[in-house]
Amino acid sequence: MRVFRLQSALREFLDKKRTDGRTIGFVPTMGALHAGHGSLIALSKRTCDVTVCSVFVNPTQFNDPKDLEKYPRDEAADTAFLEKHGCDALYVPDVKDVYPDGADALVDYDLSPLDSMLEGASRPGHFKGVANVVKRLLDAVQPDVLFLGQKDFQQVAVIRRLVARTGMNVKVQTGDIVREANGLAMSSRNERLDATHRSEAGKIYGALRLIQSSFKKTSWKEACHQAVDVLNTIPDSKLDYLKLCDVYTLKELDDWNDTHQAVCLVAIYVDGVRLIDNVVLV
Ligand code: PAJ
Repeated sequence: MRVFRLQSALREFLDKKRTDGRTIGFVPTMGALHAGHGSLIALSKRTCDVTVCSVFVNPTQFNDPKDLEKYPRDEAADTAFLEKHGCDALYVPDVKDVYPDGADALVDYDLSPLDSMLEGASRPGHFKGVANVVKRLLDAVQPDVLFLGQKDFQQVAVIRRLVARTGMNVKVQTGDIVREANGLAMSSRNERLDATHRSEAGKIYGALRLIQSSFKKTSWKEACHQAVDVLNTIPDSKLDYLKLCDVYTLKELDDWNDTHQAVCLVAIYVDGVRLIDNVVLV
């Protein structure tokens, strides 16, 4: 695997691949890699000739400085992980290579209202930071296909909108949520939970499964109440939201009777760690 710290060298490497007629798949990450990231790399390897991964803890998408500070970083482990998964090129820049004019010089892409609801409401500025870094990374890599995880359901919607707004020529492909044995969606943040809280956090998926099995059998209100009761049994937890939304617009729905496809999204703090998850209801 080739490792690049500078965009200029990465571009040169990829230009050559493109000239040789190779297709390029791109998996952007913030590191602390786990099987969820691994599944996207595998998807890219099945779909494209060359797989590029970036590891960059993007400072502009953290609305909470403590969250940025505590974000796990282990370049050696991430590099070994990517080697093992057959990644062809790793882009691991410092802040200056991504934001040469400083991390304050952000562009306002019109992503409204997708960027201001749900995660955007709880984490002001988060999606502005995500959109800016993804645009810069896409400009550097110019992939044929961008691979994103369904775990960050709203992030996918925001990035699809960004791609449409800016007219970038890239296909967006999503990968399913990879879960731990107890159902907890894999996340770099799970490392911050102790064994008890990590085990109890499996109830988040339990609550979502309950909603899935109630889809159109009981009312959304009733299913939501039952799910909240389950979530409330997780020790030291604080529910931020549990919402039923349209899969395309993410507009909140009051009930599911008239919808073919809806998504249930949850955000919850467990022992101070913010966790998100979702299930698509069909
Ligand atoms: P990060 O949280 O590292 O996630 C990188 C990619 O892995 C995202 O597309 C995310 O949805 C996917 N992913 C994370 N956990 C997953 C799981 N359990 N199953 C499947 N896919 C999973 O998302 C980001 O980084 C950043 O916001 C980024 C897009 C890199 C911009 O900085």
